[in-house]
Amino acid sequence: MQLEILPLSTPKNKIADESQLVFGKQFSDRMFVMEFDRGRGWHSARIQPYGPFSLEPAAMVLHYSQEIFEGLKAFRRADGAIALFRPKDNIARFNRSAKRMCMPEVDEQFFLDALLELIRLEADWVPRSAGTSLYIRPTMIASEPMLGVRPADQYLCYIILSPVGAYYKGGIAPVKIWISDHYVRAAHGGTGEAKTGGNYAASLMAAKEAAENGYDQVLWLDARQKKYVEEVGSMNMLFLYDGKIVTSPLNGTVLDGITRRSVLQLLVDRGYQIEERALSIDEVMEGAENGRLAEAFGTGTAVVISPVGSFCYKNRCVQIGNGKTGELTMKIYQELTDIQYGRQPDKYHWVMPV
Ligand SMILES: Cc1ncc(COP(=O)(O)O)c(C=O)c1O
Repeated sequence: MQLEILPLSTPKNKIADESQLVFGKQFSDRMFVMEFDRGRGWHSARIQPYGPFSLEPAAMVLHYSQEIFEGLKAFRRADGAIALFRPKDNIARFNRSAKRMCMPEVDEQFFLDALLELIRLEADWVPRSAGTSLYIRPTMIASEPMLGVRPADQYLCYIILSPVGAYYKGGIAPVKIWISDHYVRAAHGGTGEAKTGGNYAASLMAAKEAAENGYDQVLWLDARQKKYVEEVGSMNMLFLYDGKIVTSPLNGTVLDGITRRSVLQLLVDRGYQIEERALSIDEVMEGAENGRLAEAFGTGTAVVISPVGSFCYKNRCVQIGNGKTGELTMKIYQELTDIQYGRQPDKYHWVMPV
């Protein structure tokens, strides 16, 4: 398949003051688009000006949520060059999500080449100040107009780009986490490990409840017993417990986070023992109180690392450590961002030059 580059007539004005960038609000000049028709496969791949699509009101995505997406970042390095972080892992996960949602897979090499071409054309949109990046959102939707629950025969796949500001403006800061004892995110056999819109729509009610109670994020427990830690909003959770790293296993209900994967590797190389096991909420609450749980943090592309200052479960609230960012959490944040921004050599080959 050929990638066509369509002309851009009127470039947008960029936000000059990068401290004013708001996550996911502004989009670059161009986007990548391709279309799928059953019988024909993927076709009409192009880079075109960013703009609205025309969809029929009966488009199946609008009724039955056959949709998947990804999130990764391009970083501006000290020498001005641009690099992506583990893009092949995101594209592989995109295809795993596609499979789960009965959607067509993409050719991974073609998709990566198209993404690289898009970033090269939009290089000016990669911000330059400390902590900023260009957020990349690959998406696929069922575009066929048809009322009836079955896999669609037509799809649109696209990539849009959004310059984002530094997540931590005043330095890395701990969050307060609300543990939902009523709502659940994902059950075994469900779609928890796919990056599909419905998972996020279903999470809104608990997030609203958390916000109303003054909390930043929701920690999900397993759906069967509401006892074991799964993940948080758009982050995987890691705990420094009895000097070891504990994190929930990837058993189908948790997203296989690329930041999680990277952080676990950094921790192994620092000599930490990793326990991928079911961690009960009682262990978390008691561990916070008796000091066995020294640090807790979330990992995800948007935040990189998010230290947890406190957990609240059934009206009982506990502080983690002294409520501030833990020492190990800080070191891992520093090490990972140093690799992403090219301040430290990348012995893992995670960084891909654009
Ligand atoms: C539900 C969920 N868990 C975890 C993550 C973290 O994954 P990653 O590190 O690949 O961004 C995300 C974000 O993509 C997510 O949406």
